[in-house]
Formats: sequence, C-alpha cells, structure tokens
Amino acid sequence: MKVLAATLALAAAVAHVHVHADTGTLNTTAPGAVIRKEVYGQFVEHLGRGVYEGIWVGTDSPIPNTRGIRDDVVAALRRIKVPVVRWPGGCFADDYHWRHGVGPQRQPSINSSWSNAIEPNSFGTHEFMDFVEQIGAAPYVGVNMGSGSVEEGQAWMQYMTAPANTAPGAERARNGRTEPWALPYVGVGNESWGCGGHMYPEEYAHRYRQFQGYLKTYSGPKALKIATGPDTDDYEWTDTVMKLATRFRPNATSPILYAPTKPLLDGLSLHFYTLPSNRWGGVHPARGFGEAAWISTMKRALLMDELVSKHSAIMDTYDPKKEVALVVDEWGTWYDKEPGGPDGLWQQNTLRDALVAAVTLNIFHDHAERVRMANIAQMVNVLQAMILTDGPRMIVTPTYHVFDLYQVHQGARRLPLTLDAAPYRFGDMAVPGVSGTASVDSSGRTHVSLANLDARQARRVTLQVQGAKPGPLRGQLLTAPAIDSHNSFETPAVVAPRAFTDARWSGNTLTVELPARSVVTLALH
Ligand code: AHR
Repeated sequence: MKVLAATLALAAAVAHVHVHADTGTLNTTAPGAVIRKEVYGQFVEHLGRGVYEGIWVGTDSPIPNTRGIRDDVVAALRRIKVPVVRWPGGCFADDYHWRHGVGPQRQPSINSSWSNAIEPNSFGTHEFMDFVEQIGAAPYVGVNMGSGSVEEGQAWMQYMTAPANTAPGAERARNGRTEPWALPYVGVGNESWGCGGHMYPEEYAHRYRQFQGYLKTYSGPKALKIATGPDTDDYEWTDTVMKLATRFRPNATSPILYAPTKPLLDGLSLHFYTLPSNRWGGVHPARGFGEAAWISTMKRALLMDELVSKHSAIMDTYDPKKEVALVVDEWGTWYDKEPGGPDGLWQQNTLRDALVAAVTLNIFHDHAERVRMANIAQMVNVLQAMILTDGPRMIVTPTYHVFDLYQVHQGARRLPLTLDAAPYRFGDMAVPGVSGTASVDSSGRTHVSLANLDARQARRVTLQVQGAKPGPLRGQLLTAPAIDSHNSFETPAVVAPRAFTDARWSGNTLTVELPARSVVTLALH
C-alpha cells in the first residue's frame, strides 16, 4: 500500500513537473486599439554585412538580383509583409552624407561609426527606395544631425520629394527617378545622447526644434517627424525633450502661419536592447548558453513593458491626447561576437530569440495606443536578424518565423486577454510562465498568440472565452529540441513552424497545450 502511495505521489509529481495548468480570459466582444502594422517594422544599417551582401550584391553579381538587390532576400521579406524600413542607421546615420550615395560617380567614404570600414556608397538613396518598393514597405529615413547640417538635411528632403520641375527634382530625375518618392517618416538624428553627438537633452531639444522646421516633404504626404528619444530608462531625456520640443514657444506662434496646437514632433524614439543580463559586459554567447542565460534574457525582454509604461506616462503629461507616438526604432537581442564568426554584430539566432520576439511584440500590442511603430535591429546579418546570408546562401531565423506567425495581428484590433500563469523559475530568477496577445482583424477573424517562456515544462492554458462561437481551430507552432536550437546553412529548418493541433474547445473554454519553450498562434474561426 505504501509502495502504491509512493508511486502515485511520484506520478503526480512527474505530471506536475511536465505540465503547469494556467488560466486566463479572452473577450472577443470588446476590440481595443489598432495594432499598427508599423510595429512590425525593421531596421537596416550600413554595418557589417547588413547592407552589402545582405541586401545589395550589385548588378554584376552571380547571386540572382534585381537592379543589384538580392532576390532571395526580397522574396523572404515580402512573405512576412514588412511595413516599414528604417535606414541608413543607427550611428551611421549621423555619419552619412547622402550626396556620396547618389549619381553615377560614387566615391568610397569611411564608415567611422563601424571600424572605419570602407563605405562604397553603391547603396544610396535610389537603391534604398528601390529596395523598399521591391519588398512592399515604406521608407523611414534618418537625417544626419550629428555631423550634418540643417541645410544638408533640407536638401535631401528636397532631393527625395520635390517635383521634377524643380532643381533638386531635376537632379533626381537625371539620376534615374522622375517621380518624387513618398516619404512618410523622417528621423532627426540617432542616439544624440551617444554616438549621435553626446548631447544633453536640452541641447538636442533645441537643435531638434530648428531641424524639424526644414525637414518637410515637397510633394505627397507630410513626413511624420521622429525625434531622438531615450536610451532604455533615461526618463530625464524623455521628460526634457517632450517639455522643450513638443510645442511652439508660448507667445512666439503666429496663428496665421501655424497650427499652434499641433506638436512639433510626431514620434519620440526609444532604444532598448535585450542583453542576457541587465548590463553590458560579461560573457553572453548567442548559442551554447545554459538555462540561467535563457531566463535572464526573458527577464530582460520583459523589461520592455516597464520602459514603455514609464516613458508613456511621462509623455502623457505633455501629450495627453497621445498625438506623439513612442517609436521603438531599435530593439532586439545583442550577444557577443561569435568566435570565428563574421564581424559587424553578426550573431546566430536561436529559439531564445524567437521567444524574445514574441514577448516583445505582445508588449507592443498591450501598448498599441502609444507604441505605433517599432523597428527590430536589424533586418539581415546584424544582431537579431530575420535573415542570415553566406555568399549565395540564405536562411531565415527563428525570429523571422515569429514575425511570420504574428502577421495576422498587423493592423488588427487588440482584444482583452488576461493570463494567470504560474511563474517559471530557475535559480533565484522568476518570470511569468506565459505571455500572450489576441486580436480581431478587419474581416472579424480572431487570433490568439501564446508564448511559453518555460524552458522545460509544458503549459496547459485554459481560457474562458467570451463572445466567440466554438468552431474549428487552426494553429501554427514554433518550438525546437533545445533552448539554443537554431538554423544553419547546412540545416536551415531546425527551427521552423509546423501545424499545431493541440487546442480544443469545451463549451466556451479553450484549452491550449503549449510545449515547453514555444510560440503558438491560433485562429479561432
Ligand atoms: O544597432 C546597432 C547600433 O546600436 C546602432 O547603430 C545604434 O543606434 C545603437 O547603439
């Protein structure tokens, strides 16, 4: 009898070890804010192999290309519907003089932001605009404030957007593009508190006020102007820039010439990188790490919620109507250089990165009212990339697959989802075991995405669903055998989505069996 009791206790313990039972609610009758598709934006910088090889191979390359832009990369990016691309940096933006990158005679220059690499300038304004048109995205161009001038920035805006019957437009036409480009987003400097000029926030705010007045479009829609925002938790920066740069100086505004109620900025950027620990330094390999690094990376990624909440609260005091967007235009994981791997912030991308992407996108959805654009760093071959290339070879990463699974949320309206998940613990660290999001699209289709952060244990999530008619369920699952599973050029599909069938209705209760370390997107129609 004692043996039987012990066996049962062990069986119960084993069952407990393998599946946590978590609960939650989903209300499909109360759609909230629109999840702007632009939060699925990406960032491309002239850094390492991000542009040269990653996107641009040149028209003479044996790698199949259209006007020098590689076809395999374009096809992969089109599949995940990239809405917007930020370019040319990063630190490089404040080092970039756009005239070097237009016209038939391109002279090399020095990329002093990144190891004094030779910048061939073969990929300039025309090539970038061609690239975003090929992938179906909108351009977000960062103007050089750090080493540039108002005049240079204004001339670039004219070059890109003035009609062809003006001098800047005629020059553009001579260089091959008659029609002005639509330029919906312009960034004013980059990390002006750091590589972009080491400014105090007061200084940046004053310079911003002057720059923004001249960074207009000369045809087509107005460009939304995005000011340099804070690094991580620099709340003083947010407060000062919002205070000094949001509005015209009182009594200095002509109501005839201006609409004094309109903010002088449309977006404030936020940069936040997920390091495996809470600070720079230490040893943080992109693969070959243990569970302590896994959970601490999750903890760091979850900090995005606190950062967005606190920066938004400061913005609310100056902009209660939320006219100014918080634009998280650099985010993602940042690990050590791979031993023997390429230079230029190249890193492998594992299942851990997929979880970071899912958790972060869920947070952006939660703050959809304020976070109206985000740009993961970076698109190809740099940091938390979607795509890795090696000469003619190309693979997509676990992060790419999350962006693929989450496409259904682009432009959809967020639905209230609550989760009561037991913490996932390792050592002295704990994080919520499950993170999730839900939305309804313009055709009335409801999607739920759930991420199991737990490296070892499966989770059974039981949701009480209000308003949905139980019907067929279709899902996609992303998981892999190990916490650092990744795709390589030799084995490109180790981490790849597959059909998910482990969800069921019982009345209005939806039960989802999440494997350990996984991301699931379910369609409830
Ligand atoms: O994304 C790499 C670099 O990180 C960017 O150039 C810079 O803005 C940030 O510090």
